[in-house]
Amino acid sequence: MHKTSEWLQSFSTHSNSLKNSELRRASDFACTKVSITGGKGGVGKTSIALKMAQELAITGHRTLLIDCDSNLSNTAIKLGLPLENKFEKILSGEASLQDCIIQRGNFHLLPACNGSVEVFETKLNFDEIIIDIITSHEHEYDYIILDCPAGVGREILTLNAYCDHRWIVVTPDKSSITDSYSLVKLLSQRFGIKDNHLLVNMYQSDKQFQKVVITLSETIENFLGARTHILGGIPKLDVSSEGFDTFFLSDKKNEFQRNFVKLLYGFTEKVGGPLNVPQQGTQLAYEHDVH
Ligand SMILES: Nc1ncnc2c1ncn2[C@@H]1O[C@H](COP(=O)(O)OP(=O)(O)OP(=O)(O)O)[C@@H](O)[C@H]1O
Ligand SMILES: [Mg+2]
Repeated sequence: MHKTSEWLQSFSTHSNSLKNSELRRASDFACTKVSITGGKGGVGKTSIALKMAQELAITGHRTLLIDCDSNLSNTAIKLGLPLENKFEKILSGEASLQDCIIQRGNFHLLPACNGSVEVFETKLNFDEIIIDIITSHEHEYDYIILDCPAGVGREILTLNAYCDHRWIVVTPDKSSITDSYSLVKLLSQRFGIKDNHLLVNMYQSDKQFQKVVITLSETIENFLGARTHILGGIPKLDVSSEGFDTFFLSDKKNEFQRNFVKLLYGFTEKVGGPLNVPQQGTQLAYEHDVH
């Protein structure tokens, strides 16, 4: 049987409350797979996924970022790269991952498509395609990061459950908190996922940060019996939306970025992923340009 089908099959043949350890069937591999998710749109998932992948790559980790927003892909846009819809060729079997990724040293990006009719009309399941790509290539990477689209559709949930870890990105507004809870609830009830990481983005005071953390983690624990590991937060930067990406994704280290790097390495240390912590003054320039 096909690897992906086997994995998906496990959910229909087992009870819905599989233990997390049973899901971690890929733990034999050194590659750590993390989804950046959160339910609500516009909370910073893509900016955070890009920064995380770039930072891991700069510090020597072979990192693949997969854009899982199949037909409204944003990763290439944020990096100012041309939109090529090459992912269509993976769907049709005409191209391999290698043909479609953008590389900057250790940073590899698989963008998805933008308004592709082929993607719209495909009968293939996006989650199965991504899981097949991962299972075929995870031995080549230290980290695979999934930038998830908004929503709690079946394909997104499957990809989240498949990963070793999930970063739930939440902002302090009620709709983001509610959507994150819905996502965690579905992951718990449908896939038996009982561990998630929480990142509060765009908070405006310590008090607001604490309130989000307590509200969500206590509700998740009390109603779902699931644990929430607190990663930390990213304050709201008072600039235009594109201004934020310029500031956050630039190679030049500022206080804001240093805090994120600390948060990231707190995570990798805790979960035991491959760890090359940057030294003071590490040169952060990419090895070579995008080609
Ligand atoms: N801490 C922050 N302060 C200010 N602006 C931010 C912050 N984090 C993200 N942004 C901005 O918010 C906007 C939405 O971010 P992003 O595209 O990463 O969200 P998303 O969750 O991926 O959205 P979607 O669900 O549509 O994929 C972007 O313009 C980004 O630059
Ligand atoms: Mg996004």
